[in-house]
Amino acid sequence: MNNSKRKRVFSGVQPTGKLTIGNYVGALQQWVTHQGDNDTIFCVVDLHTLTFPEDMTPKVRFEKSREVVALYLACGIDPKQSDIFVQSHVREHTELTWVLNCVTPIGWLERMTQYKVKAQGRESVSTGLLDYPVLMAADILLYETDLVPVGDDQKQHLEVTSDIAQRFNHLFGNVFRIPQVVIPKTGARLMGLDDPTAKMSKSTAEKKVGHAVCLLDPENVIKKTVMSAVTDSGQEVRLEHASPGVINLLTIYEVLTKTPRPEIEARFAGKGYGQLKKDVFVAIMETLRPLQERYRQITADPAYVEQVIKDGADRVRPIAERMMRQVREMTGLG
Ligand code: TRP
Repeated sequence: MNNSKRKRVFSGVQPTGKLTIGNYVGALQQWVTHQGDNDTIFCVVDLHTLTFPEDMTPKVRFEKSREVVALYLACGIDPKQSDIFVQSHVREHTELTWVLNCVTPIGWLERMTQYKVKAQGRESVSTGLLDYPVLMAADILLYETDLVPVGDDQKQHLEVTSDIAQRFNHLFGNVFRIPQVVIPKTGARLMGLDDPTAKMSKSTAEKKVGHAVCLLDPENVIKKTVMSAVTDSGQEVRLEHASPGVINLLTIYEVLTKTPRPEIEARFAGKGYGQLKKDVFVAIMETLRPLQERYRQITADPAYVEQVIKDGADRVRPIAERMMRQVREMTGLG
């Protein structure tokens, strides 16, 4: 591909909970497709996990970030084509966050759906939780990002990132590139298998069996989860009136097997739910079996994982440093 067409792609996942097939189809599976033709940077955002400081011990925080790096690798992120790093290893993320905080009206953050949901029912939440979107904006803006491939639930965060970038550019001069969100056409939002009205979530997955298929779940657990997925009181797939649970299963099948919609319809219309679930289970195992095998090989060599994140941080740090130097100059902080 022509060099001038190369885009900077940046994305990340929080190392919390248990990564699910929702994370795979909403994010990781699409990240892999950007490799090669673009400059791809994938981050494990450990600083974001401090927003609930008691939810994780320091030891688990450290281990989880390595686990997620290994999962990136197992999903097909190739360290020869992409830079993989851990957010806290590049100091500029926190420094830029402070500067961006000062151009971000509090009202923008108080309105964020994710903030409201996460704060709900808690007696008190940290300032960091409110500030979460600004740290995310810093992640993205530091690297002159063009494209941010994420799941559907991150749309609002990307809107605020653009707003913050525009406000800074307006106040201090044009330095930030305005990023574009990339949401997959199908599967951007898988629903809980136990409750197809709620998004499949990696934190719920940690607490509730049957909620999600996790990338590292053993085969028998996956089978049980899929076979007991909530559908509806019907017996067979009726495409015109499919319920959310059935649509969710069809979606999982579609995105994992990359089967065209008409073929899926021909295959499942009028078939029993038992057959649909069995086929979904097979499709999941065809994806996860090789992924888990690669994960086992990768984690057998922890030094390799450390090397990957050290090299990744060493490669991206100069980009972040250059941007931060510009920001300091433009704001009179030089
Ligand atoms: N908020 C994202 C999530 O929960 C994680 C994230 C943090 C992120 N910084 C990012 C994603 C930058 C994309 C780009 O999934």
